[in-house]
Amino acid sequence: MATALITGASSGIGLEFAIEFAKHNHDLILVARSEAKLKELADAVKAKYKVTVHVLVKDLGSDKQVDEVHNYTLMQNIQVDYLVNNAGLGDYGAFADEDWNKINSMIDVNIKALTRLSWLYVREMIQRKKGRIMNVASTAAFQPGPYMAVYYASKSYVLLLSEAMANELKDHGITVTALCPGATESGFADTANARDTRLFKRKIPSSAAVAAYGYKAMMKGKTVAIHGTMNYMMAQSVRFAPRKTVTAIAAKINNKD
Ligand SMILES: NC(=O)c1ccc[n+]([C@@H]2O[C@H](COP(=O)([O-])OP(=O)(O)OC[C@H]3O[C@@H](n4cnc5c(N)ncnc54)[C@H](OP(=O)(O)O)[C@@H]3O)[C@@H](O)[C@H]2O)c1
Repeated sequence: MATALITGASSGIGLEFAIEFAKHNHDLILVARSEAKLKELADAVKAKYKVTVHVLVKDLGSDKQVDEVHNYTLMQNIQVDYLVNNAGLGDYGAFADEDWNKINSMIDVNIKALTRLSWLYVREMIQRKKGRIMNVASTAAFQPGPYMAVYYASKSYVLLLSEAMANELKDHGITVTALCPGATESGFADTANARDTRLFKRKIPSSAAVAAYGYKAMMKGKTVAIHGTMNYMMAQSVRFAPRKTVTAIAAKINNKD
C-alpha cells in the first residue's frame, strides 16, 4: 500500500484530499496544528476505509517541527510515495498595513515548509526512481494581487518552483503537480479576512471538488492543474494583457465594495 503525506489536512481542501487518498486505498500521514480535527478525521477515515492513518500535530511555521515530520517518517520507516504540500494561508489588507506575524507565517508555511518538505522527500523519491509531489498553488500565482500582495507572490513562488522541479525530475520517474484552485469554499477566506471580497462573494466550488480534480491531475502527472474552465481561461489571458491592466483587474476583484 502506498502512503500519502498531506499537510493542512485538518480543514478544507487538505481534509478532502485525505478522504480522496483513503478512497483510493492509500495510507495517510495527516499534518496540521489542530489535533482534535485531525483525530476526528483519522477516526472517520479509519471507520470507512481499510487504511492506516498517522496523525502528526505540527506547526509548519517552525523549522524544527517541519523537520520533525520528516524524522517521524524516517524513524517509523514509512516510505512517502505521495507528498501533498497543501497547508497554506492568506491575509487580506494593504501591504503596508499587514501584520508582520501574518506575513511571516505566509512565507514560513506557504513557501519555506513546502520547499523544505519537497527537498527532503524528493531525495528519497529519486533513490527509488518513483514518487509524486503535489504543491497547492492557486490561480493567484498567475498575476500580482494588490491587497493580498504577499499571498499572491507566495503562490507564484510555488507555481514556478513546481514547474522547474517537474522539468528537472522528469527523467527520474517523479512527477510534480502545481494545483491551482480558484476561490474555493473552505476555512481560507475567514482566516485571510477575505470573505467579503468580490472573489468570495459569489458561488464557488467545494473543497471536495477541488481535491478530486487535484488527485486525478497528480496521478496523471500533470505539471500545472488549474481547476475550472473560467479559471483556466483567466490564467491564460493574463499572458497577453499589459501587466498594469492585469494588476488593476486583480485589485478590483480583491476589493471589498
Ligand atoms: N480556498 C481557496 O479559495 C483557495 C484558493 C487557492 C488556493 N488555496 C490554497 O489551498 C490550500 C488549502 O487551503 P484551504 O482553502 O483548504 O484553507 P483552510 O480550510 O484554511 O485550510 C488550511 C490548512 O492549512 C493548515 N495550516 C495553516 N497554517 C499552518 C501551520 N502553521 N502549520 C500547519 N498547518 C497549517 C490548517 O491547519 P491548522 O490550522 O490545523 O494548522 C488547515 O488544515 C492553501 O495552500 C491555500 O493557499 C485555497
